[in-house]
Amino acid sequence: MAAPRGEFSSRFGFLMAASGSAVGLGNIWGFPTNTASNGGAAFLIVYLVLTFALAYPALMAELIIGRHARSNAVTALKTIATSNGSKLLAVTVGVVGIITVSFILSFYAIVSGWMIAFFFDPLARLVGMDGLSQWLTTDTAVRNSIFVVVFMVMTVVIISAGVKDGIEKWATRLMPSLILILILLTLYVFTLPGAMDGLRAYLIPDFSRITDPQLLIDAMGQAFFSLSLGVGTMLVYGSYISKDENLPVVGSLVALLDVGIAVLAGLLIVPAMYVALANGVEIFDESGALIAGPGLIVSVLPALFNNMGSIGILVASAFFILMTIASLTSSISMLEVPVAYSVENHGVRRPVAALLIGGTITIISLIIVFNFDPLFDLVVNFTTERSQPLLSLFICIFAAWIWKRNDILQEIKSGCPEAENGIFWKIWPFYIKFICPVAILVVYFQ
Ligand code: TRP
Repeated sequence: MAAPRGEFSSRFGFLMAASGSAVGLGNIWGFPTNTASNGGAAFLIVYLVLTFALAYPALMAELIIGRHARSNAVTALKTIATSNGSKLLAVTVGVVGIITVSFILSFYAIVSGWMIAFFFDPLARLVGMDGLSQWLTTDTAVRNSIFVVVFMVMTVVIISAGVKDGIEKWATRLMPSLILILILLTLYVFTLPGAMDGLRAYLIPDFSRITDPQLLIDAMGQAFFSLSLGVGTMLVYGSYISKDENLPVVGSLVALLDVGIAVLAGLLIVPAMYVALANGVEIFDESGALIAGPGLIVSVLPALFNNMGSIGILVASAFFILMTIASLTSSISMLEVPVAYSVENHGVRRPVAALLIGGTITIISLIIVFNFDPLFDLVVNFTTERSQPLLSLFICIFAAWIWKRNDILQEIKSGCPEAENGIFWKIWPFYIKFICPVAILVVYFQ
């Protein structure tokens, strides 16, 4: 029944795939705007603390469970369950994770589709097709539908090709390009008038905000979304890691890459907004806060690029290709969750599973596109604010309260023989048992 399982061919391959999953719209769009609207570096500091104190332990729980069971989330959680009750919980958490990540992908694909449309806009203007440019940048259901389909086709094609020839191959190509484009764009924006004001807004902490509950909630949501936690994404990627790999080390590298790229993206986006301000573009909303929603990416920044003259065409295409790459390496990690389950537990062939599930998610996206106002925010909030934190909580409970401590240690020791005496084993079990569940619950009930 079970098809032979894929495995990442190297540490680099895994790092690119997992950081590709982690780095997405959440880093380049969500993080900078959250920072700018939550007291600058005060948010950054809280976010860093929460990432390493809460999100990294939860990430490790997923990687360890995944590599131990070498299977998708449903089977993996069932493997470590000890009683009928915990087996039922395992299936529930696994299946709700699959449903949640499918809905996350359904809204993610819409936003990613905008990025592709905006990538083509400067090219259309370059060749003088102003009508096309107008169509590409006007928010219509038809345009959105077309680009949702384009984006989902790319996602399905990569996932059909499997772990090595799909996920790993594309992540190792795309992630280095992403980092390079991000650095070049940031350096360029730094040379423009107004950038230093943005840098100040980004980096000077407003410590009076640090006790603001909203800041805490936003920072924790951001940390869990950004590390793709709760829904089985990292668990499945963990199941493709070699048994010789040192898990605590690769896990911390993924967290560092994720945070590093978020911080770097902040150095690009916030200064770019102030450059736009210096160019006469409105960057504050009626309440005086920085524009953070879709308006930032689809109106403020394009207005800035349009003001830049001919170099603006290059900068705009570089920026939107960056966004598209970030989206794609994340969306493949989402689609992999249901696909791995169907392949392993129901014997469906991978390309068929990718096509059927990808097709279904595309239909959900299209339903949202045509009913945007009632549905979009609802789906975003329900999946990311309700479902994801609770699922993370249950995965922590599985790792800490249900799984046998000695089995966990054996799994970590594979690839890290000295684990028992290392710092990770001194701290992590305690964190995952007490601190993570309590912290998640506290923030959840805020
Ligand atoms: N982490 C990605 C981002 O920051 C999005 C993402 C990928 C994700 N896989 C996920 C979010 C699974 C939640 C769950 O954009």
